[in-house]
Amino acid sequence: MTGFRNRRVLITGAASGIGRLMALRIAARGGRLILWDLDEAHLAAVVGEIAAAGGQASAYVCNLAERVSIEAAASRTLAEHGAVDVLINNAGIVDGKRMLEATDEEVERTFAVNTLAHFRTVRAFLPGMKAQGGGHIVTIASASGIAAVPRLADYSASKAAAIAFDESLRLEFAHDGVPVKTTVVCPYYIATGMFEGVRTRFPLLLPIMQPEAVAGRIVRAIERDESRVILPWFVRCAFPLRLLPVAWFDALMSFFGITKSMDDFTGRKH
Ligand code: NAI
Repeated sequence: MTGFRNRRVLITGAASGIGRLMALRIAARGGRLILWDLDEAHLAAVVGEIAAAGGQASAYVCNLAERVSIEAAASRTLAEHGAVDVLINNAGIVDGKRMLEATDEEVERTFAVNTLAHFRTVRAFLPGMKAQGGGHIVTIASASGIAAVPRLADYSASKAAAIAFDESLRLEFAHDGVPVKTTVVCPYYIATGMFEGVRTRFPLLLPIMQPEAVAGRIVRAIERDESRVILPWFVRCAFPLRLLPVAWFDALMSFFGITKSMDDFTGRKH
């Protein structure tokens, strides 16, 4: 069990969505939060919410798309807090553009935030976890990294990479005797606004999930040292369905409405 009391818990992308909700829950369990985000105003608001509830949190403005910004935030975090106990790589972005609409810069930014930032934060904080003899690294990926979706070529590919990143770390730690736990999280759509406009054909099987429920489930999974969380359960069917011929698999993706789920996507209005 990874208990949160007095543990230093770093969450990226903590200014909104499930990052903010996980921070509030972990603070209520006695964790000492270290919150990173690009959005300074909303990040400060989350720190204020935690303080008002009697919790502890500090904020670091960081652009996870840029290596130098991550390194600067990591140096400050290590200097001011020492090693972290739990690292939750949660920040993510989506453009939702068709292949020929997305610019090279947009594709690179998606991979920088959704994938490369994980390498950079782990490189910064794993040595401290090893030195103190324990830690937990959480990768917030996506169901679209298990089964890809039209208009999400960069996003799905970046999340598939994040899933493989987690798996490789888990196996490497076991092989090398590194006492650090890992958890990968693969949710279907969540009503945070990030995927505003998406649709689901069978809400009982593939609901657009409530952020509070997802955040609560992830926090419990970290406490229980669960290696993998796939939400909702129906997404797990993608694994056996991959044994089918590709045309059958694609027909089922279409039948379940996954192929059309992004048709009315608008995303966040910045
Ligand atoms: P959100 O958009 O509400 O929150 C993401 C946070 O990341 C924001 O506070 C944003 O400011 C921050 N962020 C974005 N780019 C950043 C950057 N370059 N540097 C620093 N911070 C940055 O999103 P939500 O829905 O809470 O998503 C959290 C995670 O869950 C993401 O990794 C997302 O890909 C994943 N996810 C979300 C799903 C959904 O339907 N909302 C479905 C499956 C996975």
